[in-house]
Amino acid sequence: MKSMFDKAAVWTAVLVLMAALVAYLAAPVAAQNRGATRPKVDRPDGPVWQVIRKNCIQCHGIDDYAFFALDKTGWQSLLDTKHKSPLAEGAPVLLDQDRNILLDWLVTKFGPTSTPFPRSYVPPEITEFFSDPEATLVLNRSCVSCHGLDKIMNSRYSADEWRVLAVQMKARGANISNEDLERLVEWLGRVKGTNANQ
Ligand code: HEC
Ligand code: HEC
Repeated sequence: MKSMFDKAAVWTAVLVLMAALVAYLAAPVAAQNRGATRPKVDRPDGPVWQVIRKNCIQCHGIDDYAFFALDKTGWQSLLDTKHKSPLAEGAPVLLDQDRNILLDWLVTKFGPTSTPFPRSYVPPEITEFFSDPEATLVLNRSCVSCHGLDKIMNSRYSADEWRVLAVQMKARGANISNEDLERLVEWLGRVKGTNANQ
Protein backbone atom coordinates (compact mmCIF):
# COMPACT_ATOMS: atom_id res chain seq x y z
CA MET A 1 0.00 0.00 0.00
CA LYS A 2 2.79 2.37 1.01
CA SER A 3 4.59 1.94 -2.31
CA MET A 4 1.34 2.48 -4.26
CA PHE A 5 0.98 5.79 -2.49
CA ASP A 6 4.56 6.83 -3.34
CA LYS A 7 3.94 5.98 -6.97
CA ALA A 8 0.83 8.12 -7.00
CA ALA A 9 2.78 11.00 -5.50
CA VAL A 10 5.48 10.68 -8.14
CA TRP A 11 2.89 10.61 -10.91
CA THR A 12 1.17 13.67 -9.50
CA ALA A 13 4.49 15.52 -9.47
CA VAL A 14 5.21 14.46 -13.05
CA LEU A 15 1.77 15.62 -14.21
CA VAL A 16 2.13 18.98 -12.45
CA LEU A 17 5.51 19.52 -14.11
CA MET A 18 4.14 18.57 -17.53
CA ALA A 19 1.19 20.93 -17.11
CA ALA A 20 3.60 23.73 -16.23
CA LEU A 21 5.72 22.95 -19.29
CA VAL A 22 2.68 22.94 -21.57
CA ALA A 23 1.53 26.28 -20.14
CA TYR A 24 5.02 27.72 -20.64
CA LEU A 25 5.23 26.56 -24.25
CA ALA A 26 1.73 27.86 -24.98
CA ALA A 27 2.45 31.34 -23.55
CA PRO A 28 3.13 34.02 -26.15
CA VAL A 29 6.81 34.55 -26.78
CA ALA A 30 6.63 38.13 -25.55
CA ALA A 31 5.50 36.96 -22.12
CA GLN A 32 8.61 34.82 -21.69
CA ASN A 33 10.88 37.67 -22.61
CA ARG A 34 9.92 40.54 -20.39
CA GLY A 35 13.17 42.36 -19.75
CA ALA A 36 13.40 45.97 -20.91
CA THR A 37 14.17 46.37 -24.59
CA ARG A 38 17.63 47.79 -25.13
CA PRO A 39 18.91 50.00 -27.95
CA LYS A 40 21.40 48.72 -30.50
CA VAL A 41 24.01 51.19 -31.70
CA ASP A 42 25.90 50.40 -34.89
CA ARG A 43 29.65 50.55 -34.58
CA PRO A 44 31.04 53.65 -36.33
CA ASP A 45 34.06 53.25 -38.56
CA GLY A 46 37.25 55.16 -39.18
CA PRO A 47 38.89 57.44 -36.60
CA VAL A 48 35.78 57.50 -34.38
CA TRP A 49 35.95 53.75 -33.90
CA GLN A 50 39.69 53.98 -33.21
CA VAL A 51 39.01 56.43 -30.37
CA ILE A 52 36.18 54.32 -28.95
CA ARG A 53 38.08 51.09 -29.32
CA LYS A 54 41.08 52.53 -27.52
CA ASN A 55 39.24 54.35 -24.73
CA CYS A 56 35.66 53.23 -24.31
CA ILE A 57 34.91 49.53 -24.66
CA GLN A 58 37.01 47.99 -21.91
CA CYS A 59 34.21 48.41 -19.38
CA HIS A 60 30.91 48.57 -21.32
CA GLY A 61 29.46 48.57 -24.79
CA ILE A 62 28.32 51.49 -26.91
CA ASP A 63 24.56 50.76 -27.00
CA ASP A 64 23.82 52.88 -23.93
CA TYR A 65 24.88 56.03 -25.81
CA ALA A 66 21.41 55.91 -27.42
CA PHE A 67 19.73 56.72 -24.08
CA PHE A 68 20.95 60.32 -24.41
CA ALA A 69 20.36 63.30 -26.69
CA LEU A 70 22.83 66.02 -25.77
CA ASP A 71 24.90 68.84 -27.20
CA LYS A 72 28.69 68.83 -26.98
CA THR A 73 28.86 70.38 -23.50
CA GLY A 74 26.14 68.03 -22.31
CA TRP A 75 28.02 64.97 -23.54
CA GLN A 76 31.25 66.18 -21.99
CA SER A 77 29.68 66.68 -18.59
CA LEU A 78 27.72 63.40 -18.81
CA LEU A 79 30.95 61.48 -19.43
CA ASP A 80 32.72 63.40 -16.66
CA THR A 81 29.91 62.73 -14.18
CA LYS A 82 29.40 59.07 -15.04
CA HIS A 83 33.06 58.28 -14.86
CA LYS A 84 33.49 59.86 -11.42
CA SER A 85 31.85 56.67 -10.14
CA PRO A 86 34.29 54.38 -8.31
CA LEU A 87 33.21 51.67 -10.76
CA ALA A 88 34.77 53.67 -13.55
CA GLU A 89 38.12 54.03 -11.87
CA GLY A 90 40.80 53.92 -14.52
CA ALA A 91 38.64 55.45 -17.28
CA PRO A 92 41.22 57.09 -19.53
CA VAL A 93 41.56 60.84 -19.94
CA LEU A 94 41.24 61.51 -23.65
CA LEU A 95 43.68 63.57 -25.69
CA ASP A 96 42.03 66.81 -26.88
CA GLN A 97 42.00 65.65 -30.48
CA ASP A 98 40.44 62.28 -29.61
CA ARG A 99 37.89 63.91 -27.35
CA ASN A 100 36.79 66.22 -30.16
CA ILE A 101 36.44 63.35 -32.62
CA LEU A 102 34.34 61.42 -30.10
CA LEU A 103 32.16 64.35 -28.99
CA ASP A 104 31.49 65.49 -32.58
CA TRP A 105 30.33 62.00 -33.50
CA LEU A 106 28.19 61.69 -30.37
CA VAL A 107 26.48 65.00 -31.21
CA THR A 108 25.85 63.91 -34.82
CA LYS A 109 24.30 60.62 -33.74
CA PHE A 110 22.80 61.52 -30.36
CA GLY A 111 22.51 65.29 -30.49
CA PRO A 112 19.88 67.57 -28.96
CA THR A 113 17.51 67.19 -31.93
CA SER A 114 17.52 63.38 -31.82
CA THR A 115 15.14 61.40 -29.63
CA PRO A 116 16.67 59.28 -26.90
CA PHE A 117 15.76 55.59 -26.76
CA PRO A 118 13.33 55.07 -23.85
CA ARG A 119 15.16 53.86 -20.75
CA SER A 120 12.66 51.22 -19.77
CA TYR A 121 10.46 50.04 -22.61
CA VAL A 122 9.01 46.74 -21.43
CA PRO A 123 6.99 44.94 -24.11
CA PRO A 124 3.36 44.58 -23.04
CA GLU A 125 1.94 41.06 -22.98
CA ILE A 126 -0.26 40.40 -25.99
CA THR A 127 -2.88 37.72 -26.36
CA GLU A 128 -4.23 38.69 -29.78
CA PHE A 129 -2.15 38.55 -32.90
CA PHE A 130 -2.38 40.51 -36.14
CA SER A 131 -3.71 38.95 -39.31
CA ASP A 132 -2.04 40.18 -42.51
CA PRO A 133 -4.78 42.79 -43.23
CA GLU A 134 -4.64 44.09 -39.63
CA ALA A 135 -0.86 44.47 -39.80
CA THR A 136 -1.11 46.23 -43.17
CA LEU A 137 -3.64 48.65 -41.73
CA VAL A 138 -1.36 49.59 -38.82
CA LEU A 139 1.70 49.86 -41.09
CA ASN A 140 -0.21 52.24 -43.36
CA ARG A 141 -1.48 54.24 -40.42
CA SER A 142 1.71 54.49 -38.34
CA CYS A 143 4.74 53.77 -40.49
CA VAL A 144 4.53 55.53 -43.84
CA SER A 145 4.61 59.23 -42.93
CA CYS A 146 8.43 59.37 -43.10
CA HIS A 147 9.40 56.62 -45.54
CA GLY A 148 7.83 54.11 -47.88
CA LEU A 149 6.47 50.74 -46.91
CA ASP A 150 9.20 49.12 -49.03
CA LYS A 151 11.81 50.07 -46.40
CA ILE A 152 9.93 47.76 -44.07
CA MET A 153 8.76 45.08 -46.47
CA ASN A 154 12.26 44.55 -47.91
CA SER A 155 13.85 44.06 -44.47
CA ARG A 156 14.40 40.85 -42.54
CA TYR A 157 15.00 40.88 -38.79
CA SER A 158 14.37 38.68 -35.79
CA ALA A 159 11.42 39.70 -33.60
CA ASP A 160 13.81 41.15 -31.03
CA GLU A 161 15.55 43.24 -33.68
CA TRP A 162 12.18 44.39 -35.04
CA ARG A 163 11.23 45.46 -31.51
CA VAL A 164 14.36 47.60 -31.13
CA LEU A 165 13.68 49.18 -34.54
CA ALA A 166 9.98 49.78 -33.84
CA VAL A 167 10.70 51.34 -30.43
CA GLN A 168 13.26 53.58 -32.15
CA MET A 169 10.61 54.53 -34.76
CA LYS A 170 8.13 55.31 -32.00
CA ALA A 171 10.73 57.47 -30.26
CA ARG A 172 11.22 59.28 -33.58
CA GLY A 173 7.52 60.01 -33.78
CA ALA A 174 5.64 57.00 -35.17
CA ASN A 175 2.13 57.23 -33.78
CA ILE A 176 1.42 53.76 -32.39
CA SER A 177 0.31 52.36 -29.02
CA ASN A 178 2.62 49.95 -27.21
CA GLU A 179 0.08 47.13 -27.68
CA ASP A 180 -0.12 47.67 -31.44
CA LEU A 181 3.65 48.02 -31.57
CA GLU A 182 4.07 44.65 -29.86
CA ARG A 183 1.50 43.00 -32.16
CA LEU A 184 3.25 44.50 -35.16
CA VAL A 185 6.61 43.23 -33.87
CA GLU A 186 5.17 39.73 -33.45
CA TRP A 187 3.77 39.88 -37.00
CA LEU A 188 7.00 41.25 -38.48
CA GLY A 189 9.01 38.56 -36.71
CA ARG A 190 6.66 35.95 -38.18
CA VAL A 191 6.26 37.30 -41.73
CA LYS A 192 9.42 39.38 -42.17
CA GLY A 193 11.67 37.38 -39.86
CA THR A 194 15.11 36.06 -40.57
CA ASN A 195 13.65 32.63 -41.40
CA ALA A 196 10.61 33.83 -43.37
CA ASN A 197 10.74 33.07 -47.07
CA GLN A 198 8.21 35.56 -48.42
C1 HEC B 1 37.17 52.08 -16.70
C2 HEC B 1 35.84 51.71 -17.14
C3 HEC B 1 35.15 52.63 -18.14
C4 HEC B 1 35.65 53.13 -19.32
C5 HEC B 1 37.01 52.91 -19.93
C6 HEC B 1 34.57 53.92 -19.89
N1 HEC B 1 33.46 53.86 -19.11
FE1 HEC B 1 31.65 54.71 -19.52
N2 HEC B 1 30.95 54.08 -17.70
C7 HEC B 1 31.65 53.29 -16.82
C8 HEC B 1 30.80 53.02 -15.67
C9 HEC B 1 31.18 52.19 -14.45
C10 HEC B 1 29.59 53.69 -15.90
C11 HEC B 1 28.35 53.74 -15.01
C12 HEC B 1 28.56 54.84 -13.98
C13 HEC B 1 27.30 55.05 -13.17
O1 HEC B 1 26.21 55.06 -13.74
O2 HEC B 1 27.41 55.25 -11.99
C14 HEC B 1 29.70 54.33 -17.22
C15 HEC B 1 28.70 55.05 -17.81
C16 HEC B 1 28.75 55.56 -19.10
C17 HEC B 1 27.64 56.18 -19.78
C18 HEC B 1 26.24 56.33 -19.25
C19 HEC B 1 25.53 55.03 -19.50
C20 HEC B 1 24.13 54.98 -18.98
O3 HEC B 1 23.37 54.10 -19.45
O4 HEC B 1 23.75 55.78 -18.12
C21 HEC B 1 28.08 56.55 -21.02
C22 HEC B 1 27.27 57.22 -22.10
C23 HEC B 1 29.47 56.16 -21.09
N3 HEC B 1 29.84 55.55 -19.92
C24 HEC B 1 30.27 56.39 -22.19
C25 HEC B 1 31.64 56.10 -22.23
C26 HEC B 1 32.53 56.54 -23.27
C27 HEC B 1 32.11 57.35 -24.50
C28 HEC B 1 33.76 56.08 -22.95
C29 HEC B 1 35.06 56.36 -23.66
C30 HEC B 1 35.46 57.75 -23.70
C31 HEC B 1 33.65 55.31 -21.71
N4 HEC B 1 32.33 55.36 -21.31
C32 HEC B 1 34.69 54.63 -21.08
C33 HEC B 1 32.92 52.79 -16.97
C34 HEC B 1 33.78 53.09 -18.01
C1 HEC C 1 8.88 60.04 -37.71
C2 HEC C 1 9.41 59.42 -38.90
C3 HEC C 1 9.33 57.90 -39.00
C4 HEC C 1 8.23 57.10 -38.80
C5 HEC C 1 6.80 57.51 -38.47
C6 HEC C 1 8.70 55.74 -39.02
N1 HEC C 1 10.02 55.74 -39.35
FE1 HEC C 1 11.12 54.10 -39.89
N2 HEC C 1 12.72 55.31 -40.27
C7 HEC C 1 12.76 56.68 -40.09
C8 HEC C 1 14.07 57.18 -40.49
C9 HEC C 1 14.52 58.63 -40.43
C10 HEC C 1 14.81 56.04 -40.91
C11 HEC C 1 16.25 55.99 -41.46
C12 HEC C 1 17.26 56.22 -40.39
C13 HEC C 1 17.37 55.08 -39.42
O1 HEC C 1 17.55 53.92 -39.84
O2 HEC C 1 17.27 55.33 -38.21
C14 HEC C 1 13.93 54.90 -40.78
C15 HEC C 1 14.30 53.60 -41.09
C16 HEC C 1 13.47 52.49 -40.97
C17 HEC C 1 13.85 51.14 -41.32
C18 HEC C 1 15.19 50.69 -41.92
C19 HEC C 1 16.17 50.56 -40.80
C20 HEC C 1 17.32 49.66 -41.09
O3 HEC C 1 18.40 49.94 -40.52
O4 HEC C 1 17.15 48.70 -41.84
C21 HEC C 1 12.80 50.34 -41.01
C22 HEC C 1 12.71 48.82 -41.20
C23 HEC C 1 11.76 51.17 -40.45
N3 HEC C 1 12.19 52.47 -40.46
C24 HEC C 1 10.56 50.71 -39.96
C25 HEC C 1 9.55 51.52 -39.48
C26 HEC C 1 8.31 51.02 -38.91
C27 HEC C 1 7.96 49.55 -38.72
C28 HEC C 1 7.56 52.12 -38.61
C29 HEC C 1 6.18 52.14 -37.96
C30 HEC C 1 6.09 51.55 -36.63
C31 HEC C 1 8.34 53.31 -38.97
N4 HEC C 1 9.54 52.90 -39.49
C32 HEC C 1 7.89 54.62 -38.84
C33 HEC C 1 11.72 57.48 -39.66
C34 HEC C 1 10.44 57.05 -39.36
